[in-house]
Amino acid sequence: MPHADSALVPETITTKAEFWAHTYSQLEALLDSQQRNWVTNLSNASSLLYSSLLAFSPHFGNGQRAVNWCGFYLDSELFPQPRNPSQRGESGVRAPSGRLLLGPFNGKPACQYINIAPGKARGVCADAFLQKRTVVVSDVESYPGHIACDGETRSEIVCPLILREASGVLGVMDLDCLVVGGFDNEDKAGLEKIAELIVTACDW
Ligand code: SME
Repeated sequence: MPHADSALVPETITTKAEFWAHTYSQLEALLDSQQRNWVTNLSNASSLLYSSLLAFSPHFGNGQRAVNWCGFYLDSELFPQPRNPSQRGESGVRAPSGRLLLGPFNGKPACQYINIAPGKARGVCADAFLQKRTVVVSDVESYPGHIACDGETRSEIVCPLILREASGVLGVMDLDCLVVGGFDNEDKAGLEKIAELIVTACDW
């Protein structure tokens, strides 16, 4: 099957439970076990989720094109240090920590980093990362500290990527929606399973 076809959603799929089960198995097949690089796998995961949700639009978010952004923010410690010495930190090692950096995504451009350092942390992604739990925001305008990357976003869900064997958080998976109340408990359950699959499929 051509890779792009993995984002097709058959017309027989009409409920969210069916949609998330279908998307999980499509992603499982797409994440080739021979290829465990997280940049590569997160790129395909964000594309698959975004494109599948677009195809499922008639059944999601009141029938509108609902999900406008889907991607990842990752602990800056996971990124390789620069090879050009002039760009390294004073210690000669790496650029600032205490941040989540923008990773692979689909949608419009978004903020490049999010503070997670004590006293500086703010927003839905930082909260999900620091509290190690999924945060569902029904209305972004009433969420204290929400960072608006796109003024059209109305609701949001952020799942942490948890490396169980190390009890550590690697980053977050973030989805934005154009309607209030876009994500419910079925989306939370479906996305948490997908987050677990993604973590397991990559080397970190
Ligand atoms: N709204 C997020 C920022 C990331 S964008 O939505 C892509 C937050 O409050 O952390």
